[in-house]
Amino acid sequence: MTKNIAIFASGSGSNAGNIIRYFRDSETISVRLVVSNRSKAFVLERAGILRVPSEVFLREEWESGGANVLAVLKKYDIDFIVLAGFLARVPDAVLQAYPNKIINIHPSLLPKHGGKGMYGHHVHEAVVAAAETETGITIHYVNECYDEGEVIRQVTCPVLPADTPEDVANRVHALEYEHYPQVIEEIVLLN
Ligand code: GAR
Repeated sequence: MTKNIAIFASGSGSNAGNIIRYFRDSETISVRLVVSNRSKAFVLERAGILRVPSEVFLREEWESGGANVLAVLKKYDIDFIVLAGFLARVPDAVLQAYPNKIINIHPSLLPKHGGKGMYGHHVHEAVVAAAETETGITIHYVNECYDEGEVIRQVTCPVLPADTPEDVANRVHALEYEHYPQVIEEIVLLN
């Protein structure tokens, strides 16, 4: 039976696009919906081009418990949720309805450089400022606390002495594109 997934994203959505393309011909996993908290997020254009429906919920709907979000997830028969650059909090109603069925990717080796406010380029700037010699990605389950759910997979890459935050971002993005769809496939099919 096909498992339906929803991708939650707030920004450019390059990971979302990569995940949609990866599963386009899959017989077991279907990307049914893209959900965003920003009406101008570029991920919505990507979803349109790739012919995946999208829904936007504004701040009140995310912050008032999440009943509207949950109703739409049920309408699309969503089995599993994938966060890909999603910067709002997942509402309690959604967390409760999808136990161990929501995963996130973070662009560092958690617990390093995680937590509130640590997203996208802020993370890579912190990695360079801390003179780290390695960084990477963390794919983890989502619970009520930012970036603190059980880790599923970490993959590392070097940080070179002359690297700018942008160099680090490019290397980390490449790891995300390579590994996130495969990990999604493994975890969704386990459930
Ligand atoms: C990705 O690097 C993702 O790991 C990160 O946001 C970026 C989104 O890029 N997520 C976080 O920082 C979550 N704390 P994208 O919109 O091009 O996929």
